[in-house]
Amino acid sequence: MCGIVGYVGNEACEKILVNALKKLEYRGYDSAGIAVFEGDRIKTVKAKGKIDEGLAVKLGEVGELTAVSGIGHTRWATHGEPSDINSHPIGNGRVSIVHNGIIENYRKIKEYLISKGYGFESETDTETVAKLLDYNYAGNPIDAVISTVSEIEGAYALGIMFRDFKNKIFAVRKESPLIVGVGKGEMFIASDVTAILEHTKEYYLLEENEIAEISKDGVVFYDLHKNEIEKELQIADWDIAAAEKGGFKHFMLKEIFEQPDSLKKTILPRIKNGLVDFSECGLTDEKLKNYKHIYLVGCGSAMHAGTVGKYLIEGLARTPVIVDIASEFRYRSPLLTAEDLVVVISQSGETADTKAALHLANDTGCDTLAIVNVVGSTIARDAKMVMYTLAGPEISVCSTKAYMVQTAFMYLLAFKVAFVRGRIDEAECKALVSELLEIPEKVKRCTESLEQYQYVASNLMSAQSLLYIGRGLDYALSMEGSLKLKEISYIHSESYAAGELKHGTISLIEEGMPVIAVATQTELFAKMQSNIKEVKSRGAKVCMVCSEGTVIEEGVVDYPVFIPKTRDLLMPLVAVVPLQLIAYYTAVLRDCDVDHPKNLAKSVTVE
Ligand code: F6R
Repeated sequence: MCGIVGYVGNEACEKILVNALKKLEYRGYDSAGIAVFEGDRIKTVKAKGKIDEGLAVKLGEVGELTAVSGIGHTRWATHGEPSDINSHPIGNGRVSIVHNGIIENYRKIKEYLISKGYGFESETDTETVAKLLDYNYAGNPIDAVISTVSEIEGAYALGIMFRDFKNKIFAVRKESPLIVGVGKGEMFIASDVTAILEHTKEYYLLEENEIAEISKDGVVFYDLHKNEIEKELQIADWDIAAAEKGGFKHFMLKEIFEQPDSLKKTILPRIKNGLVDFSECGLTDEKLKNYKHIYLVGCGSAMHAGTVGKYLIEGLARTPVIVDIASEFRYRSPLLTAEDLVVVISQSGETADTKAALHLANDTGCDTLAIVNVVGSTIARDAKMVMYTLAGPEISVCSTKAYMVQTAFMYLLAFKVAFVRGRIDEAECKALVSELLEIPEKVKRCTESLEQYQYVASNLMSAQSLLYIGRGLDYALSMEGSLKLKEISYIHSESYAAGELKHGTISLIEEGMPVIAVATQTELFAKMQSNIKEVKSRGAKVCMVCSEGTVIEEGVVDYPVFIPKTRDLLMPLVAVVPLQLIAYYTAVLRDCDVDHPKNLAKSVTVE
């Protein structure tokens, strides 16, 4: 939520900041702005809307800026509507800041500052930080930052400019992420490394309550007692191509096509001698044998991956699994004991609710395992054990390849737990692993002929509302299909356990209403077919996703989508691809902004 950047160097920085902000637009696109040192002033240009529609237009009107340092922001609005005035950077001419996070005690600070004569223009919490920094500033920026962060409560990553300290920027963070990039004669700050990959792969991770004082020649880090601290330089292993569209119309489509590769990268390092190996993170067989319960916790698609995991682990390993939405888990006093394993699943590794769930589990004394895509993210660092999904950067707000590899991890976990608990023998485990290794090829085959998805999409595009139905693993998967569609095409949809329809929801079916039935589970197929007939006879138009060779009774399905077959247990990994592509093409046909769905941001760092 919100992306921040900063640059100090020798180059004119306007384009550098704007390009870096574009890479962070997935974090929010309600407004964008930059502030730069122009002469002896801090010059700010900001505008409501996406960068190309707002900030870039305004910058064009302002004319070329010659500044060589500045800060920038792309916003996901929390306090105050999206508007020019609520956009960042925010300041008063002496101090200017960009902020990612939420200041919880801003009202109290605002009242205090008003009593000291400060005026406020915006409705943002951020303005109180800018004014508080100004109030606390008596010539030394580090002192002002230390005093300010000791007074504010909440989450923040801040990029700060003081007019008196030309061509320096300052940064501090708590809970929201921030990195300091190291170039040759130039330095950067950014909410994540993708923003600066075209300039450098070297960066420092700013830790909680560390302050950075950045000039073009380097950075000095301080703790809150003003002691200088040494930090280890990190090297990003993502390359710039991974953060570019590479000829695809949208990041989402590119990321769907990248799934076979992401799967291989994630699965292969965890296979040794044909069996699953988790030694990289210390998750021993002994531990896995003894956990009383396994909790799978995440938000949105990550939680949906956990839902598939529950079916798999309980089915194969006969071990109790609780799937939780992180925002519920953190407040519902879960019955955790030190004998449980809590697995938190997150692409970004920064999702506020998932982070809080992890901290709760850590405090309870149970083992925690993070399955995370972004290396060095807070969740990755705070969990007792971490394993990375190696999908590379996921830029589209709508998750595809990250969901795919999170789900693949659920398979690895299920196979491993089942094996160490003696529920499957070595031969069966090896057979499962070997079939898992064939999935990337099958996923690839799903993307070879796109017409069938385009055809289904053309039949969905005018719908007001639709249902996804499935049983067993297909039900778990249909939740993800439904989320994809509503998220990017803005058509209302729900996912339902097919057997549950008769208990209320079937009353919604009316002439022409689309129903997407996921029907890949052989044992449940006859029952699914009966459920489909029930909706069909009430006027539904049915699309069925099923494996090649499935025999469908005549007149039951309007649009069948056939996908490569694998054993039933593994079908969700293949069947998710048509669901992603149907959502994608429906959104394209409806002329939606696929990579930037309205009201959303990629990394939900606020509650
Ligand atoms: C949906 C989507 C979201 C995320 C959720 C969790 O397409 O992308 O539902 O899955 O916000 O995000 P992470 O995985 O970063 O914790």
